[in-house]
Amino acid sequence: MGTLSDTVSVPVLGVFISGRGSNFQAIHRAIQSGVLSARIGLVISDRDADGLVYANANNLPCVVCPRSDFSTQADHDAAMLEQCQRAQVNWIVLAGYMRILSAGFLANYPDKVLNIHPSLLPKFKGLHPQRQALAAGESESGCTVHYVIPEVDSGPIILQHRVPIYDGDTEAQLSARILEEEHKAYVAALKIVLGDDE
Ligand code: GRF
Repeated sequence: MGTLSDTVSVPVLGVFISGRGSNFQAIHRAIQSGVLSARIGLVISDRDADGLVYANANNLPCVVCPRSDFSTQADHDAAMLEQCQRAQVNWIVLAGYMRILSAGFLANYPDKVLNIHPSLLPKFKGLHPQRQALAAGESESGCTVHYVIPEVDSGPIILQHRVPIYDGDTEAQLSARILEEEHKAYVAALKIVLGDDE
């Protein structure tokens, strides 16, 4: 006889990473501890990212899809799309993925692609947002989880977490303070979009 967990389907996440993958790990831990009801169906990286060590250690299916293996971005995105579809992914979670997904890819997952950015968008889009916030003399910053649209760092905002900026903060100190909030914010945002926050 099957168990309840055999019959109840949970959302399947495809997590895209390029680096250490600490947001990915925070999401996985939230799932493991029962805080978030979802399953990671696939981890995709465009390079030999540190986060893959954790994925492998936790027996999560993962695939490395380097851009240099494909002649065009469209081919690269098509290959990743095929991997996601094969893994029956229904939500795409960008967690430090350092490439821009094409409009063609996004069209296959309408309103189902999320990103986290370490600033209070719409402030400080693009690279090094923590450095930008310090240079602008801000007294606070934070992170934003948002839906992904073709225009970078511009989709509808799901939520933001704020942190103070202290006199003399270095970029590394501010980044670490924001990152701690990112881990909570991404889980909270996923609970909202997955309807798991009642
Ligand atoms: C995070 O600061 C995220 O906001 C940004 O890239 C960084 C990725 O960190 N998009 P990690 O790989 O999740 O540790």
